[in-house]
Amino acid sequence: MEQLLSEQVKKSRTPARLDFYQSATGLILGLFMWAHMLLVSSILLGNESMYWVAKSLEASFLSKDPTHGYPILVTFAVLGVFFLFIVHAGLAVRKFPSSWKQHRVFRSHMKMMKHKDTNIWYTQVVTGFIMFFFGSVHLYIMMTHPDKIGPYASSDRFVSDWMWPLYLILLLAVEAHGTIGLYRLAVKWGWFDGKNPVSNRKKLKFLKNLLAIFFIVLGLFTFAAYVKIGIEHRDKQGERYIPSSLTSQAKPEALINYQS
Ligand code: HEM
Repeated sequence: MEQLLSEQVKKSRTPARLDFYQSATGLILGLFMWAHMLLVSSILLGNESMYWVAKSLEASFLSKDPTHGYPILVTFAVLGVFFLFIVHAGLAVRKFPSSWKQHRVFRSHMKMMKHKDTNIWYTQVVTGFIMFFFGSVHLYIMMTHPDKIGPYASSDRFVSDWMWPLYLILLLAVEAHGTIGLYRLAVKWGWFDGKNPVSNRKKLKFLKNLLAIFFIVLGLFTFAAYVKIGIEHRDKQGERYIPSSLTSQAKPEALINYQS
């Protein structure tokens, strides 16, 4: 009897534990996505800035040749993010409507109640679904081609490799999902409730909308910059960017078109 009771206590703790893991992986991924957007948007400061960001993430400062880095480090970083991404999605699937009938009932309740937090939960389900497919494609490419990240290589991927439609949809989904997710986490765990939770939650909602707009606008400008470079560079697809200050120091193989 005692054993049965302790088993039931253990079982009843499982949903709370899974909820905690979902929140923790969501928090890490949400913060990662803000950092990711800031790094990717370095292209807005020019080709050279994006080049330095990409090379620094490959730890090129450890190499004697500044044009040479260790792309395997990017592969490991992507593997870590991919792991969190899959765990987070796997835990979220538990809460999805599991049949078309359930989905229809949920939608009709949603229309009837007009409850804002229920609506944003639904947005999370839809954007999460989109991200799972499109995000997996992007992560797989980053993981297997870590050496092809740079102003020209990335822009070629946008335009010549036809990744732009995927990136555009993913950008809108990820920025909505990320900011809503972080907002819901803060509300759920009462991080910023303070002494006046009602007014503080209103401020938090305002901040959420502001951050979503900021990252979507930044993302669209970044998107436009890569597309512009990709179009201009279409005839030289495959050529690597090397800052003029480094061409004299670069080993000849670093200057060779990477597709030849
Ligand atoms: C460590 C993991 C990741 C790395 C190394 C990475 C790297 C990059 C790079 C280099 C770009 C520029 C385009 C290109 O080279 O193809 C990019 C763009 C983008 N990434 Fe990631 N990424 C990672 C994870 C993610 C995740 C998890 C998501 C969302 C699920 C995501 C969404 C996007 C989007 C939407 C863009 C386009 C941004 C824009 O157009 O403004 N990335 N990423």
